[in-house]
Order: sequence, then C-alpha cells, then structure tokens
Amino acid sequence: MRVLLAGGAGYIGAHVAVALIESGHEVVLLDDLSNTSAVAAERVSVITGAPVPLVVGDASVDAVVEAAFDEHGPFDAIVHLAAYKAVGESLQKPLDYYANNLDTTFALLRTGIARGIRSFLFSSTGTVYSDPADLPFTEESTTSIDLSNAYSKSKRMNEVVLADVARVNPELDVTVLRYFNPVGAHESGLIGEDPSGIPNNLMPFVQRVAVGALEEIGIFGDDYDTPDGTGLRDYIHVVDLAVGHVKALEQGAPGYDVFNLGTGRPVSVRELIASFEKAVGRELPSRVLPRRPGDVAATYCDPAKAQRKLGWTAERTIDDASRDAWNWQSKNPQGFQTA
Ligand code: UD1
Repeated sequence: MRVLLAGGAGYIGAHVAVALIESGHEVVLLDDLSNTSAVAAERVSVITGAPVPLVVGDASVDAVVEAAFDEHGPFDAIVHLAAYKAVGESLQKPLDYYANNLDTTFALLRTGIARGIRSFLFSSTGTVYSDPADLPFTEESTTSIDLSNAYSKSKRMNEVVLADVARVNPELDVTVLRYFNPVGAHESGLIGEDPSGIPNNLMPFVQRVAVGALEEIGIFGDDYDTPDGTGLRDYIHVVDLAVGHVKALEQGAPGYDVFNLGTGRPVSVRELIASFEKAVGRELPSRVLPRRPGDVAATYCDPAKAQRKLGWTAERTIDDASRDAWNWQSKNPQGFQTA
C-alpha cells in the first residue's frame, strides 16, 4: 500500500513508518514539526534504507493535504496521528485542541475520500473509557464524551465523526485504534520519545532523570487501592503498537471498527521505575508526591479483539521497553537535538 502518514515524524508516527516500510509498504510523512524534528524522518530512512519523503505542513489545511496528494499520491490509505496531545495544556487551550484535533481529521477525510483512499486509520486513546467498574476495558466498555480534559474529549469526538463518515462511505475501511500507554523506543536507538520541556508522562520523565537532566522522579501518590499503592497502567512498547497499525491496515475491511492496543498487563509506577533501574544498572532518586489531579488508580485493556481479528498481540515486555528507551535516551541525551 501507499500510505500518507499524518503526524509521521512524531514519536509514534516514526515507529509506525518503520513498521509499515518493513512490511513492504510505501510511506509519505506529513507533519508540521510542531512537536518533533525533521531528524526523525531522516532516522526512519536510516533504519529502513528506504526513501521517506516528508511533507512539512499542517494537516488541518485542505490545500496542504491536497498538495501532498498532488505531489506524492495516489494513496491507498491515510494513517492519522497528527494531534496535540498534552493533557494539561488541553485544559488551558481547549479551543486549540478541539480545532486542531478535529480540523486535521476533516481535512484528511475530505481530500482522502475525494481522491479514492480505501482505508483511514485513526489514533485514539484508552482514556475514552469512563467506568473503572469495566476493567479490563474491552471495546464494548462504556465510553464517554464527558472526560476530564479537552485532549481526551477531542479524541472521542473524532471517533463519533469517523463512525458517521464510515456509515455513508460503505466502501471505506475506517479503523480506530485506542492506545494505552506507549513507551520504549526502536531497538536501534535512532528514534524514540523526545518531549519538549519537562515531560508529563512517567517513562520519559524517568528517562530524563536517568541521564541527569532532571533531579528526581516524583511518584504521584502511593495511597491508591492497588497492590503497591501506586497507579496501574497498561504500558505498551511503541514497536508493538506500530505493528498493530500495520496489521489493522492489512486486515482491514470496509466499515467502522475499533481496537484496543495494549498488553492487558497492568504495571505500577514503582514496577516501571524498578524495571528502568534494572536497564540503567543503578538506582534512580524518587520521592512520593501528592496524587496528580485527574489521574485514575488503574487503567488497562483486554486486547483479545485485536488478537482475534487482526492476529496482533503485544510481544514486548516492560523490561524490553525500559532497555530500548534507555538505549535511545543515553545515545540521544538531548533527543533529536543531539544530532
Ligand atoms: C497520560 C494522559 C493520557 C494519555 C497518556 C498517553 C494524563 C492525566 N493522562 O496518561 O490522556 O493518553 O498519557 O500515554 O496526563 N506518574 C508519576 N510521576 C510522573 C508522571 C506520572 O507517578 O512524573 C504516574 C501517574 O500518576 C500514573 C502513571 O505514572 O499513575 C502514568 O502516568 P502518565 O505516563 O502520565 O500516563 P497517564 O496518566 O496514564
């Protein structure tokens, strides 16, 4: 397939690009580089040995998407990962989040459908599930639009839009992938997560402490109703996640479908830190802080549907993710700026 990968220079996008190319597909990246670097695209090319064209532009602008089709099309599929994703920032800038995270979908769909794509893959989030009584979350679990932040709400809104668009375009394969917590890096150490500023998420924060860029890990609460009192999450290795996209594209059938992409194995904050310490070979300073507002005690999925329908299952462990994240971070202490 020829794939237009929007958000393709981002953390997840770069790994999806590698996985697609390694499965024999051709990829063109579309990215505004607002939260990543063109170096990521070059590194995808280094890893795969394939040319990886990068269109630098805003996927929420019809003319930009049309120009990408004019120059590099036709495409069989669009994989849409172009979004703002900082939960805290989304509370401060809801309009920016709703506008960007929906307009990208509108523009990509308008041009994609007009130009005859067969598949549209969308990156959503496991935070659309709203009832902890449903754990582990299946695709049938209750979802809500009444979520704690504009980022998560924008993702759920996209799903609603996509279901309606699929209904009136019965030939189109529309697939929503609900990610749990992506972590780790490509085993080459050439691409990985490179958040700007102080990371919000646990694994990149631990990575920055390990290279000495941050002083100590803050554990956001150790009084949750969980085995060790810290939060439980379903951390999925980004390479497994990327392979999930390839399977979803290859196995896709016309119509709207939704898949959880996670391991199904909950890991606590303390377990993640211990795993990373093992990878680094020394203890890392940490301190217990108050709970972070908006956090839930536990979230993890039942990935059985993806296994059944896509033949996909997460193969890598949290230790694999820690090893690969450390390999990436230690080789690239300033992320892509190191290059
Ligand atoms: C966060 C987002 C979620 C997004 C996901 C992407 C929030 C509230 N949610 O999920 O919308 O889809 O990232 O991966 O931001 N923790 C610490 N110390 C830290 C950072 C985190 O103890 O410095 C804890 C948290 O309390 C949580 C766990 O580590 O128990 C994971 O946190 P994080 O990596 O931020 O992911 P989520 O909050 O699950």
